[in-house]
Amino acid sequence: MLPAEFAAAPLLTDLPEPVAAQRGVRLRLLRDDLHHPALPGNKWRKLQPNLREARRQGHTTLLTFGGAYSNHLAAVAAAGVLYDFQTVGIVRGEPAAARNSTLARCAAAGMQLHFVSREQYRRRSEPDWQAELLARLGPAYLLPEGGTNGLAVQGCAEIVRELAAAHQSYDALTVACGSGGTLAGLVAGAGGHGRVVGISALKGHAPGLRAEVAALVHEATGQSFDNWELRTEFHFGGYARYSAPLLAFIGQFYQRHGILLDPVYTGKLLYGTLALIEQGYFAAGSTVLAVHTGGLQGWAGFTERFGAPPPTSH
Ligand SMILES: Cc1ncc(COP(=O)(O)O)c(C=O)c1O
Repeated sequence: MLPAEFAAAPLLTDLPEPVAAQRGVRLRLLRDDLHHPALPGNKWRKLQPNLREARRQGHTTLLTFGGAYSNHLAAVAAAGVLYDFQTVGIVRGEPAAARNSTLARCAAAGMQLHFVSREQYRRRSEPDWQAELLARLGPAYLLPEGGTNGLAVQGCAEIVRELAAAHQSYDALTVACGSGGTLAGLVAGAGGHGRVVGISALKGHAPGLRAEVAALVHEATGQSFDNWELRTEFHFGGYARYSAPLLAFIGQFYQRHGILLDPVYTGKLLYGTLALIEQGYFAAGSTVLAVHTGGLQGWAGFTERFGAPPPTSH
């Protein structure tokens, strides 16, 4: 059974930040992290249409790919338990990583973990290798890394439709960007209206990622839009890197608003959104809506690796 909805209406909260007040910008946070109790933020948005499709195709197993601390792997494992699918995770890394909290949680949820080298993992999108995996591990519905595919983009576009249905108006949406699927969904949903800004959690990859987002939007809508942008200067050293200034920001944000951000995606999103507001990127009088995409399960792994606990534990 796949429920269609959890939150009845988008959950929005105002973020009274001095920088925004000075620039005459209204900053709001869409608490999409609270949308689904077990599959927070973009995870449910991306998975829901794929789980439906998997079921429609008669699959009982989901097979997907991820790094050793992947929020996506954790979400697929949780979805398997909730919606009665077997799950298989192809993990980049050594079997010793299975002890980390993300993978331990995946295993506890019954996910079968298969560890592969970086070289092998690079082949994750190649049909030949995927066919080999399916031949070896049994039939399964394939979910790409990060859960990003055409259906996932459609699922993320729902965020924009729900805002419209609830008559919530805004001038710009901002969102954290990894594989680009969530950003593509917002752009597709916006259909050329307003502005959509992606804040990349990764260092480098910018031209490729922009092209990827544009292709996903085109696949979803048959159209190209120019009302979006990918900002790449707020990566704080790169994907899942330790950054004392970023952690300090997340701590201050928690003090000010009582809302926890994660150190891989949403911390960078809010930091970048506030920096853009300060730079005058958004016109005075505009409303900017940042999308909280969840990711809080990532804190456990971050703390294991770097000894940096979330500000809630201070
Ligand atoms: C919490 C969180 N926010 C944002 C993203 C970025 O999403 P996408 O890969 O669709 O760009 C991810 C990645 O999966 C994530 O876990």
